[in-house]
Amino acid sequence: MEVIVKENYEQMSRLAAEMIADLVRSKPRSVLGLATGSTPVGTYKELIRMHKEDGLDFDQVVTFNLDEYVGLPTTHTESYRYFMNDNLFNHINIRKENTHVPDGLAKDVTASCTEYERMMVEHGGIDVQLLGIGGNGHIGFDEPGSSLASRTRVKTLTKETREDNSRFFASIDEVPKYAITMGIGTILDTRRVILLANKESKADAISAAVEGPITAMCPASALQLHPAVTIITDKAAASKLTGNYPAEPHRLILK
Ligand code: PGA
Repeated sequence: MEVIVKENYEQMSRLAAEMIADLVRSKPRSVLGLATGSTPVGTYKELIRMHKEDGLDFDQVVTFNLDEYVGLPTTHTESYRYFMNDNLFNHINIRKENTHVPDGLAKDVTASCTEYERMMVEHGGIDVQLLGIGGNGHIGFDEPGSSLASRTRVKTLTKETREDNSRFFASIDEVPKYAITMGIGTILDTRRVILLANKESKADAISAAVEGPITAMCPASALQLHPAVTIITDKAAASKLTGNYPAEPHRLILK
């Protein structure tokens, strides 16, 4: 695992966007795995800036999002499809038909999850997967206790996650109880992972994921099994790590 500790959220976001942009420039048909939540918003803003000012071209890019609430229509402002359109897709030249988010309204959810996995394979697999991390160590909606071999499926959200996300809804009762999420096994199959974490509230989860044992009780710790993970944090999220971690990725040092 490569851990990079940046001074602040802006620097963290800029580095993640540069890494994604490098990939898109070298492979115009890149398959990006994307995440929602407050953490990646700065990365998306920077990618939008690169598109508008530097001509970063998303015409051939394909995306797969990690997760989606069950039961919210795509027009609901808290659905993850709405979030992605609003925070990224509407502001770059990506083809909407190339963007995939799990179908939270699917009549046959199991079949729809199987189809989602099939589509990822059909597109050649995910080149880089962007991840946030929950305060409890979850990735996607793979909550503590999720099988480390899990694939895309429906999960029941924990009380903690529903409380965390209730800030986006009128009340906790309106937060969906279920979500479709890529599994930990799905995430481990991606070619490269970039996990972002900022703020002190993520410090325990980052410490457990990077320096703790591999355990289903901290789903992000499963990333220790992945051969190409870059974890980028701000100072606060790194505050409980005991190792010394650099502020720049190896590739920059090696240049
Ligand atoms: P956040 O959520 O980016 O809003 O902190 C991350 C997560 O829960 O995975």
